[in-house]
Amino acid sequence: MSTQSLVFSDQDLQARNTLGLPARAAVAVLDDESVIPALCAALAAGRNGQEADDPLFILGGSNLVIEARPRHRILRVALRGIRLRDETASHWVVEAAAGEPWHGFVDHCLAQGWPGLENLALIPGTVGAAPVQNIGAYGLELDQRLHSVVAWDLRSGRERTLRPDECGFSYRDSVFKRDGAGRWLIVRVRFALPKAWASRLDYPDLRDHPGLRSEGGAPGSESGSLRPTPRQIFDAVCDIRRRKLPDPAVLGNAGSFFKNPVIGADQAAGLKQRFPDLRTYLQADGRVKLAAGWLIEQAGWKGRRLGPVGMHARQALVLVNHGGAQAADVLALAQAVRADVQARFGVELEQEPVVLD
Ligand code: EPU
Repeated sequence: MSTQSLVFSDQDLQARNTLGLPARAAVAVLDDESVIPALCAALAAGRNGQEADDPLFILGGSNLVIEARPRHRILRVALRGIRLRDETASHWVVEAAAGEPWHGFVDHCLAQGWPGLENLALIPGTVGAAPVQNIGAYGLELDQRLHSVVAWDLRSGRERTLRPDECGFSYRDSVFKRDGAGRWLIVRVRFALPKAWASRLDYPDLRDHPGLRSEGGAPGSESGSLRPTPRQIFDAVCDIRRRKLPDPAVLGNAGSFFKNPVIGADQAAGLKQRFPDLRTYLQADGRVKLAAGWLIEQAGWKGRRLGPVGMHARQALVLVNHGGAQAADVLALAQAVRADVQARFGVELEQEPVVLD
């Protein structure tokens, strides 16, 4: 099967999804932007009834539950390159190709003296996948540092540059995710990194990390002694993640398997009365975010297995593949956890990873 210059061939995808699920599909590797117009033309021809190909899925791989034989054809983006695109009085505008590994990109920016992404260290996946999920961790979300996304709209066959307000970002969501993984082909992502760098230490785990205490300074102290460098924050984030979150290369997982649910203030108050230890985070709009990991732990699922899969022993929000799991095992466990949390707390958990069938 081919789309002019792009050649699709049957490939094993087990090592290309972080849950480590066995899968084979028709895969093409995109390492040259010049073939994209031909891809768009072929897709348009398919839509017009000529030689309709199987639907296309743009592979991120780190936030995915993949079936053994998906009907989708897979496009793996392997475009590489990082450059300082622009420098204004206030910002460095850094551009990275979509196939750059995310963590290496963050590290490279720090080494170049362009801080600002250090709270997002060690997140698996690529630069191109980062806006799809609007990745976030330790008090920072990608949209807060985004300049623009250069993406091909495969439906119209046109290249677009989307500003942050055009990307429909919200918590772990964007137009790229909502429109489905076959519409937007992200080729480059640009970041606006402020020259007046300031540490982001709102997240308790990070603020209290021993690596960020300077001489004589107490964690969270207001004495001004807490002045970590971007590199120290990067190292602390890596340390926290390594301690809590399993390395997908060792134990298959897709990070947090559910979003932290956001509920109404009244429901939250009622729950807090029944469960005084409930973790609650007041949102700007008055609603309340709950810690899904806490709910799952209280429902008895922390460290518990169902067949070859289970909820992680150190972070109950992370579903892990202990070996030999298929997509159906993952979805069965997700359903059991969701049902138990619903029965105990009356709260609906929404799955983070996309299912590819
Ligand atoms: N908690 C428990 N038991 C658990 C896990 C968590 O009681 O088994 C409690 C913790 O004690 C804490 C609260 O839940 O009070 C929050 O836990 P944590 O700080 O580990 O963060 P999280 O809310 O579980 C979110 C993101 C992570 C991100 C971290 C750090 C979501 C769905 N997850 O996890 O993102 O790294 O915060 O910012 O928002 C991901 O999306 O894949 C991901 C890993």
